[in-house]
Amino acid sequence: MRRRCAALAVPLPEQGEPAARVVQALARNADPGIVASGGPRFFGFVIGGSVPAALAADWLTSAWDQNAGLFVLSPAAAVVEETVLGWLRELFSLPEGTGMGFVTGGQMANTTCLAAARHAVLARAGWDVAAQGLNGAPRIVVLAGDEAHVTVHGALRLLGLGDASVGKVKSDGQGRMLPDALRDALRSAEGAPVIVCAQAGNVNTGSFDPLEHGAGGRRAIGGGHPGGPSGLTAA
Ligand SMILES: Cc1ncc(COP(=O)(O)O)c(C=O)c1O
Repeated sequence: MRRRCAALAVPLPEQGEPAARVVQALARNADPGIVASGGPRFFGFVIGGSVPAALAADWLTSAWDQNAGLFVLSPAAAVVEETVLGWLRELFSLPEGTGMGFVTGGQMANTTCLAAARHAVLARAGWDVAAQGLNGAPRIVVLAGDEAHVTVHGALRLLGLGDASVGKVKSDGQGRMLPDALRDALRSAEGAPVIVCAQAGNVNTGSFDPLEHGAGGRRAIGGGHPGGPSGLTAA
């Protein structure tokens, strides 16, 4: 397979080239190494970026080239974001004051949500993680199903919590956390800042963790579908 992509691996050019020629070479030389993930019989991963509506939206996004960081830089992008927040609040009965932001994918969704949850549970324990960092912070217990997506663990590493912070909760044949196992895990973590990572859409089976039996009370709970740029955290 690597040999088929050999034409892409060119030495660093000494001279610039016309942009059209570079784009043509890219299209031609990448072709033998492209995986046709957009086909209806592609069952490998959850990819949908080239279905017609997604592709059209992607083209618009690239052509508009907006900086969506501030309202003044792209009022349209800000209004789209506010509108989606309204929809999500309605769909999931989220409380007044809920915030939302688009991120680049599943990894960043889980990372962002876990960062928010880390901030919230530590604030309740009297620790300002933004100001004080993690050195000397109360130890956080993260509860996740034993089928939690790999990006949850990646996020925990990035956020300085690490694999050792995770208490694995036994799940059923569909990859859902068992409510009794979750309850037991919460009981044993009593007194510690706790984050529950609940999956809304197991990547293999589509099953949902039992959010209704979730953390309740003074804890943070997060969920999301790792195959799409979605994540949700609730404190
Ligand atoms: C192994 C792996 N890594 C990362 C991701 C998330 O990718 P992204 O952050 O690009 O959405 C997925 C999605 O399911 C995955 O299966």
